[in-house]
Amino acid sequence: MTDPSTKRFLRVLNGETLTPPPVWLMRQAGRYLPEYLEVRAKAGDFLSLCYTPDYAVEVTHQPLRRYGFDAAILFSDILVIPHALGQPLRFVKGEGPKLDPIRSVKELSKLNLDRVIPHLAPVFETVSRLGREIPQTTALIGFCGAPWTVATYMVEGGGSKDYAATKKWAYGDPEGFDRLIGLLVDATTEYLIHQVDAGAEALQIFDSWAGVLADDAFERWCIRPIGEITRRVREARPGTKVIGFPRGAGPMYPRFIQGTGVDAVSLDTTVPLEWARDTVQPLCPVQGNLDPILLIAGGQAMLDRVDRTVEVLGKGPFIFNLGHGITPETPPENVTALVERIRSHTV
Ligand code: CP3
Repeated sequence: MTDPSTKRFLRVLNGETLTPPPVWLMRQAGRYLPEYLEVRAKAGDFLSLCYTPDYAVEVTHQPLRRYGFDAAILFSDILVIPHALGQPLRFVKGEGPKLDPIRSVKELSKLNLDRVIPHLAPVFETVSRLGREIPQTTALIGFCGAPWTVATYMVEGGGSKDYAATKKWAYGDPEGFDRLIGLLVDATTEYLIHQVDAGAEALQIFDSWAGVLADDAFERWCIRPIGEITRRVREARPGTKVIGFPRGAGPMYPRFIQGTGVDAVSLDTTVPLEWARDTVQPLCPVQGNLDPILLIAGGQAMLDRVDRTVEVLGKGPFIFNLGHGITPETPPENVTALVERIRSHTV
C-alpha cells in the first residue's frame, strides 16, 4: 500500500515543502492527446470508456508515459454517480452530458442508492489495476463530484449558464433539495470508501460550480455536504487524504477549509498568488492554479507565470496544477514545456 516517503505528491499532502513541487494536471487524460482519441474511437461512447477497465486503465496511463506526472487520476467522470443511481445519462458529441432532469422531491423515488456500488464495480476494478500498474513513485488519486455540482447536472439535465432550475428548487424548497443533497452525500461517501479500498491514495472532490452560490447557500450546499463526506470517509478509513476544489470560492476558501476539514485545496485560476500564500497556505497545502488557456498560448508568457507561481507558492506545501481542467485545444508539446519549466526550479 501507500509508502508516502517515495511519493512526492503524498509527502506534500502530509505538509512537506518540496523543491521542485510535484505536478499533475486536472483532466490530464483527454482529448488533447491523439492516443486518447484513438482509444475513445475504439470504445465508441464516452461511458463505455469509463466502464471498461482495459480502456480506462490505458487512458489513465497515457499522460504518465508522456510527462511523468507525480500523480495519476482515475479515469472516470463525476456523472457516473447519477447514472449509478438510475438517472438516464448520455454524452452527446459537441454538447456534453444530457440527463433526464429531476426537479422535485417526488422524482427522487426514481433513484436507488442500492444500485450504486454494484453499478460502479468496473470503476473499482480500474482503480485496483492502476494501483498495481502505475510507477512506484506515482500517487493514485480517486475522485468524485461534490453534491452541489452533481446536483446541478441532475436538475438542469446537463450543463447550464445560470443554474436557475437548481437554484429555484434549492431556494424554494430547501428541505426537499437537502434530500437530494443527502442522497448524493450517501452515494458519494460509499463510492469514495470503495475507491480507497481498491487502492486510491488520495481523493479529490470537484465542486466546479461552487462559485455561483451566495455565502449562506455556499455554507449549506457546498461546505456542509463536503464536510460530511470527508468526516464519514475518514471515520471509515482513517488517514485518507482529501483535496477539496471549491472552484470560484474566492474569499470563502479559508472558511471552506475550516468548515469541511479537508487536507488540502485546489485553487482556481482567479485566486491571487500572494493572497493564497498569506491566507490559505498557512491552513493547508495548496494546489494550482495556472490558467488552462495560458497553457494553450504557451511561450514566454506561460514560462514567466510558471516561474512566478513556483516562486510565490513553492516556499510552502505546494502541488503544481492548473486552475481548471486542461482543454482539448492544448498542444501536447506545451505540456512538455510546462513540466520541464516546473522541474527546472531546483532551489
Ligand atoms: O484526467 C482526468 O482528470 C480524469 C478524468 C475526468 C473526466 N472528467 C474525464 C472526462 C475528471 C476528473 C472529470 C471531472 C468532471 N467531469 C468535472 C469536474 C471538473 C471540471 O472540469 O470542472 C465535471 C464538471 C465533469 C462533467 C463533464 N464530463 C462534462 C461537462 C463533460 C463534457 C464537456 C467536455 O469536456 O467534453 C464531460 C466529459 C468528459 N469527462 C470528457 C473527459 C475526458 C470528454 C469526453 C470525450 O472524450 O468526449
